[in-house]
Amino acid sequence: MPVIARDLPTGMVAKAYGRWAHVYDGLCKHLFQPAHVAAAEAANRIGGEVLEVGVGTGLLLPLYSRNLRVTGVDLSPAMLLKAQERVEREGLRHVHALDIADVHTMAHPDERYDAIVFPFVLTLVSHPETALDNSLRMLKPGGEIIIVSHFRSQNRYLAGFESAVAPLIAGVGLRPDFPVSRIATWCDAKADCTMQEPVPLGVGRVYSLLRIVKRPRGERR
Ligand SMILES: C[S@@+](CC[C@H](N)C(=O)[O-])C[C@H]1O[C@@H](n2cnc3c(N)ncnc32)[C@H](O)[C@@H]1O
Repeated sequence: MPVIARDLPTGMVAKAYGRWAHVYDGLCKHLFQPAHVAAAEAANRIGGEVLEVGVGTGLLLPLYSRNLRVTGVDLSPAMLLKAQERVEREGLRHVHALDIADVHTMAHPDERYDAIVFPFVLTLVSHPETALDNSLRMLKPGGEIIIVSHFRSQNRYLAGFESAVAPLIAGVGLRPDFPVSRIATWCDAKADCTMQEPVPLGVGRVYSLLRIVKRPRGERR
């Protein structure tokens, strides 16, 4: 699949988050908290085996129910090290593994996970549709892909601003102009996907929670 011009190259994102690791929690913990809580609650309702993609410093990990079995993956060793420290510091025994992996190519078994969570990640990956394809493969029928992110504003002036600043902040691993319609288009083309209506979150409703359900086998279109 061709890379769409403004998608972020994987190497650039990995490098950017290597730099973010030491300041990330201080800058993002409170800002992202409503979205993190909503994503964890959605996963907790499903239960079972959970994959968190782009686990970063592990800010969501304490929010998951202790009866889940959580695997976290990330491109950035520096971010993962922070997540590992958090797991040890807070005794998060529901965290089964933290591994370096790229969501586009990771080869975990088919239909392994009940839920796959993308907190502030999907809009940053270099091939979002490939990342979603691989996630759908790893998801059990009846399972959910849970996404929280900022998406391009519906307000045309704000959307214009987001498009203008996007090239300026790509180098620090941010992508403010990603349209939610791109995920809807991907989902519409799949026989086994249903996308739920996005739920706005946070101050100014700047983030959204998006749930994609993988239909059970007998219910495919
Ligand atoms: C904005 S941070 C979000 C961290 C965490 N999920 C949170 O919400 O606090 C994005 C994370 O996604 C990771 N990431 C970006 N592209 C990725 C990919 N292709 N595969 C796995 N992780 C990726 C980055 O290294 C970074 O740690």
